[in-house]
Amino acid sequence: MSLLKKIDLIQKNFKTELASAINDSSKINDLHNKYLSRKGLLSQLFSDLGKASSEDKPVLGQKINSLRKDIESQLADLNSETTDTNKIDSDLSLPGNYFPEGNIHPITKVIDDISSIFNKIGFSIFSGNEVEDDFYNFEALNIPKHHPARDMQDTYYLQNDKLLRTHTSASQIHFMEDNQPPIKIISPGRVYRNEDISVRSYCLFHQIEGLYVDKNVSFSDLKGVMEYFSKEYFGQDVKVRFRPSYFPFTEPSAEMDIYWGLNSESDYRITKGTGWLEILGCGMVDPQVFKNVKYDPSLTGYAFGIGIERIAMLKYGITDIRLLYEGDIRFLRQF
Ligand code: DAH
Repeated sequence: MSLLKKIDLIQKNFKTELASAINDSSKINDLHNKYLSRKGLLSQLFSDLGKASSEDKPVLGQKINSLRKDIESQLADLNSETTDTNKIDSDLSLPGNYFPEGNIHPITKVIDDISSIFNKIGFSIFSGNEVEDDFYNFEALNIPKHHPARDMQDTYYLQNDKLLRTHTSASQIHFMEDNQPPIKIISPGRVYRNEDISVRSYCLFHQIEGLYVDKNVSFSDLKGVMEYFSKEYFGQDVKVRFRPSYFPFTEPSAEMDIYWGLNSESDYRITKGTGWLEILGCGMVDPQVFKNVKYDPSLTGYAFGIGIERIAMLKYGITDIRLLYEGDIRFLRQF
């Protein structure tokens, strides 16, 4: 066989053998010996070259040299790709990779727990939108432009008249637009406010909205459901109080507080010195809201908006709301 043919043959064989050595470091090693060692195929080619005519030598020499370089670099590449995985595959005594176990974020947990309490008495879940139009967040809830009530909820405005919702109450409007009474829903989600950040408040937080619309719904129905929820969630001994309040979309309106305690300095800070923590706003749906969604204004209904972070603080004794957003695993691991 001519030397040229030999070179070609060796090149071809190497290609097929290389393919079968992928991810196998012992086969790679064998190939190294077979082709590149002192008595390997490449050395033989070089000794054959000595017998070639002086005319053919330069061309054949170049061919053998470049084949050698090619083989060297391909084996080196394959070797570097193979070593790591091969070590892990074959050394069964190596410890496995450690994947830290995750857990449910306290905010999610509170939302889930409260949702299941309301599910038990027939409320179904409706998800609203975080990005809203002025109409759903304000107008339809009786908060017209330039009305002082807008000061209660300054928000972040986006382009094209969109804004980040300031409360889940916007979901009430969406749901009533698309459904007819009787209605019995809760709508959990994230809301945004352009507010000073402190131990009690943050620029985003979570609420669960509730809406019940039917004939002959009374304020005592609302109170009964709020008390049921408080006892189910915090236990039968929970201390609850209602205070009259004002919201543009309910009449009458109230807020509900839960007793936190007033012993330490942080109790004073969190409860503004009262011992009570406000956890929700509620009231009877204002007939004007029914008109805004083209409902018969003689219908009756109640609505409520629960502050999730406040509940989490009460339930787990968290003294600074900001801990809930920092993602510090030393904090999160405790739940
Ligand atoms: N949306 C109010 C807020 O964020 C809370 C609220 C009050 C919701 C009264 C209601 C309600 O549904 O009836 O401050």
